[in-house]
Amino acid sequence: MPDSFRIAPSILAADCARLGEEVRDVIAAGADLIHFDVMDNHYVPNLTLGPLVCAAVKPHSSVPIDVHLMVKPVDRIVPDFARAGAANISFHPEATEHVDRTIGLIHEQGCTAGLVFNPATPLDWLMHVIDKLDLVLIMSVNPGFGGQAFIPHALEKLRAARRLVDAAMQRTGRPIRLEVDGGVKADNIRAIAQAGADTFVAGSAIFDTPDYKATIARMRAELAQVG
Ligand code: DX5
Ligand code: ZN
Repeated sequence: MPDSFRIAPSILAADCARLGEEVRDVIAAGADLIHFDVMDNHYVPNLTLGPLVCAAVKPHSSVPIDVHLMVKPVDRIVPDFARAGAANISFHPEATEHVDRTIGLIHEQGCTAGLVFNPATPLDWLMHVIDKLDLVLIMSVNPGFGGQAFIPHALEKLRAARRLVDAAMQRTGRPIRLEVDGGVKADNIRAIAQAGADTFVAGSAIFDTPDYKATIARMRAELAQVG
């Protein structure tokens, strides 16, 4: 298990007319990463933020930017996000023809690489690539929108992913983060951590509250109780 829990607010739920200020505020409130959701109205039925916005947000962010690509195809846009300041780039295996090549491309561009699993996507995709990954992201909603309810089956999947991630880390000595995305809130974050997640994306649960610092503190207090 990597050293600590990380909280990654998704700026999809922020006030997009004041994005720079929102990013600074949520970092001051204790965010460890900024989660950046990229949707193309093709792979998922919504259209959100592109590299232009990532580059605009970057000077406001003193923490790494965690880009979640929900786009198809993937490879064309990877260098654009690397140039725009992404630290990590995650993608969905169904959205690229060549998963191994896309992981290599992300690394060549100087970013860490994550593979994302939709609720119905089997963890089998990890079998031949896990030793090259820096992050595994388990979706606990179907991708496309913020504010959806956490799908309970994700807990079982997190437990299975944790076993695979731990075995790979032991084998290679390389750290791999296990991230969860969708419907994460202060009242379920402890159970989600107990199932094995170490990095928590939360959009509406943070940005729909008036006091980001109090909300993140509540999440950390829950995480502190994980045995
Ligand atoms: C869903 C996105 C999520 C979303 C999370 O497709 O990948 O990152 O913004 O939002 P909440 O936390 O509101 O479920
Ligand atoms: Zn996301």
